Amino acid sequence: MAITTQQLIQWKQQGRAIVALTAWDYVIAQLIDAAGVDLILVGDSMAVVLGYKTTLPITLEEMLHHAKAVCRGVKQALVVVDLPFLTYQQSISQAMQSAGLVLKETGAQAVKLEGGYPAMVETIGRLVEAGIPVMGHVGLTPQSVHQLGLRQQGKTQATAEKIFNEAIALEQAGVFSIVLEHIPADLAMQITQKLTIPTIGIGAGIHCDGQVLVTSDVLGLAEKHPPFAKAYTNLRETISEAVQDYASEVRDRQFP
Ligand code: KIV
Repeated sequence: MAITTQQLIQWKQQGRAIVALTAWDYVIAQLIDAAGVDLILVGDSMAVVLGYKTTLPITLEEMLHHAKAVCRGVKQALVVVDLPFLTYQQSISQAMQSAGLVLKETGAQAVKLEGGYPAMVETIGRLVEAGIPVMGHVGLTPQSVHQLGLRQQGKTQATAEKIFNEAIALEQAGVFSIVLEHIPADLAMQITQKLTIPTIGIGAGIHCDGQVLVTSDVLGLAEKHPPFAKAYTNLRETISEAVQDYASEVRDRQFP
């Protein structure tokens, strides 16, 4: 049975950790779904595999194109798609249009958007009222890279309180889960204990209800990865060796 947003909330109540990864195409989606990942995020971090330096240039059309491919590969996991920069911040009707297209055209079950109180609360409330499941994202929000940098957030009491209050406001607005990115583990623990919806951490310590990583980091495909990511293999090396072996065999007329 396909995993639902309600299932994630039940898992939080049962203390069962939620496993999330990003995907950007059919093959990766099929592999990580079959390996048992619970939630697949078509994140705008896909910027790295498209050769962009930040997530800002990604368009809704690119997200729709890749999300369709991901959904064709997934049988079990809940698929969530990031709304890219400036496709939801201008007005509620813009957010409704963008999120609606994601659900109508891709087969994904939910959208994720960055930011908290007060800017996003009304927008999220309206999307949820319209039947669109929304995942929140607070802490380090990469679409604000030119304001925040890529530094850990919530290190002072004032910024920690702001993030804590944003998480509460997002839950009240109706999100089914929240990504906590690059914040101190203690703060993530306090938020996780306060909320009834699951928190999914990335660089936010062990106390979150689940963890998400960018798949190109896990596979060792990215050129650089954040300090909190862990590479479980080194596909850059594997691919490079395989291609060099192929090239020498062709040049030496050993293959075919
Ligand atoms: O775009 C993305 O991959 C994300 C994760 C870092 C949570 O938002």
